[in-house]
Amino acid sequence: MASSTRCNVAVIGAQWGDEGKGKVVDLLSARAEYIVRYQGGNNAGHTLVVDGKKTVLHLIPSGVLHPGKVCLIGNGVVFDPLVFFEELDALTGAGVLHKGSEHETVRVSERAHVILPYHRQLDSLRERRAAVDGAHIGTTVRGIGPAYEDKVSRRGITVADLIRPETLKPKLVRAIEEKNALLKHLFGDSVIDADRIFEECVRTGGRLKPFVCDTRRVLQEAVTHGRPVLFEGAQGALLDIDHGTYPFVTSSSTVAGGAIIGTGLGVGLGATTNVIGIVKAYTTRVGTGPFPTEIEKSEPAIAKRIRDVGAEYGATTGRPRRVGWLDLVALKYAVEVNGITSLALTKSDILDGFECVKLCKSYTLGGNTLYDVPACAEDYSRAEPMYDFMPGWPEYDRAAAACLSDLPVELRDFIRAIEDYAGVPVTIVSTGPGREQTIVVKEPFGQR
Ligand code: IMP
Repeated sequence: MASSTRCNVAVIGAQWGDEGKGKVVDLLSARAEYIVRYQGGNNAGHTLVVDGKKTVLHLIPSGVLHPGKVCLIGNGVVFDPLVFFEELDALTGAGVLHKGSEHETVRVSERAHVILPYHRQLDSLRERRAAVDGAHIGTTVRGIGPAYEDKVSRRGITVADLIRPETLKPKLVRAIEEKNALLKHLFGDSVIDADRIFEECVRTGGRLKPFVCDTRRVLQEAVTHGRPVLFEGAQGALLDIDHGTYPFVTSSSTVAGGAIIGTGLGVGLGATTNVIGIVKAYTTRVGTGPFPTEIEKSEPAIAKRIRDVGAEYGATTGRPRRVGWLDLVALKYAVEVNGITSLALTKSDILDGFECVKLCKSYTLGGNTLYDVPACAEDYSRAEPMYDFMPGWPEYDRAAAACLSDLPVELRDFIRAIEDYAGVPVTIVSTGPGREQTIVVKEPFGQR
């Protein structure tokens, strides 16, 4: 029987992604035995700083940096084998993984869908075409959307297919036939040679085979025996395919519910899982789409200061992130759609020394006051933020800050304002990029 006292943890971005999840995931990974990615693909980019050394992982769970953990890529992920092997080779080269036994640490679901070259090609062509009239999403161009489209249209290639050349060929041929029609006639681009892709797939599938397993079964056993599992969310709640700022979203379920579908563990799991929402002390967004508290035009000097001090450039694409104040309306929405049970506040240090900080507590739209996120992206783009102004906090000795009472009173007030609005406690405060610069108020894997 499952242990009922020990909780699992899901880590979710509570904004538009890039909330500093990498660091929190790293911290929580130390306490987990199993770490699983359940949605998205290598559009994610988790930056970790360990002993002053920066590592960016896009696909393999960040928990891999802790020895002795099992890192799983679940069925809900879209899986790019080339990126997987690039990361794996880098980790082996750095001595993080041991050559020959990597597959004991990193496991890939046989049900995950594979990103193939034509997905990347289509992603890029679509974005370029849409950009002509400004309707592009600003995707990471990693083929994420087209791979999920194929999954839903039942033209996808799964990892299970990839390692079975005997049944792979006809599936590939069928999928590529359609792609070539699009590529040739709509985009006027080069077509794909099915034989070449097949050969590449066979090669990759052969190398991948030892890593492939039924990750659901592995997790089911783990949960049954009360082993702590960390569900590593990617992107953020406002980029969710259902609940985000559609169509300016990614193509997966980034909310906590995605962890159930993307791993195959049942709904009952929710009752024993703490959902930690990661929220930055301000907001950023990459790509296009609504962002009411954006200050690029209204307060460009502050936007630049935050971007420069906070190194707000995409970990995957290097694009400068759009910057704005913390939006509590969007945060509250994220708390609700995820069932967030507590928050981890990151990057408050970037605002150290600011005279004043702002918190958005409502929007106005067409003369009405809104306390919720509008469904229609056009409406949301016109929503004006209504702010509370709060005094900023001075620089302080961050290295010596071991508990909340060590923080400046203005920062504590800022944290309290977030808790009051969001209705959940802040149980982790990150005061700097390093592992040790973290205040843990409540044990994340403890009882709910
Ligand atoms: P896609 O996921 O590459 O299709 O991109 C769709 C949207 O999600 C674009 O606005 C991207 O910038 C955004 N996005 C995807 N992954 C991330 C992420 O890890 N952090 C922040 N934004 C992301």
